[in-house]
Amino acid sequence: MNLILIGYMGSGKSSIGKRLANRLGYVFVDLDKRIEDLAKVSIEEIFEEYGEKEFRNLEDHVLSKVLKEENIVLATGGGTPCHSNNIEALKENGFVVYLELDPPTLKKRLFWAKSKRPLLIGKNQDEMLDYIGGHLEERMPFYSQAHLTVNADKINASKLDEIKDRLLSFEN
Ligand code: S3P
Repeated sequence: MNLILIGYMGSGKSSIGKRLANRLGYVFVDLDKRIEDLAKVSIEEIFEEYGEKEFRNLEDHVLSKVLKEENIVLATGGGTPCHSNNIEALKENGFVVYLELDPPTLKKRLFWAKSKRPLLIGKNQDEMLDYIGGHLEERMPFYSQAHLTVNADKINASKLDEIKDRLLSFEN
């Protein structure tokens, strides 16, 4: 069984994913990292050189390979579940957890890290808050299909244990 984390950019999918993988004895897989390894360039460069459409094609391709693996904790990209029916594929191949945060918290986390996020580059604080609010609303129909939604603010040991317990009871 796989544990699959979905959620907006900045929701903590990679850091929480690593902690959960440790707890479960699973392998941690970061989808963006796998895409970069295959393309041999960064996500920013893929967007810049080939555009978002090509990035999504590559993302779908790498996702279909990764979903053949077993006992992984997978941190998806923020847009992964929202394209190409990927939410269905994710739910068929694991226990899907949505890491939820509100737009002001996401904006706070993302403002200083936006250079690594092609979709956010060049926005000031107000523009970023507006963008995140609208974008999150568009993505909610996908994120809300997760098996479990967890508030991703201040994830502590008991929240990690709860996710682990829910995964184990989902398996049985
Ligand atoms: C994206 C999120 C990014 C990365 C790409 C597109 C998105 O991943 O896949 O920049 O569409 O939300 P993170 O959520 O890990 O930042």
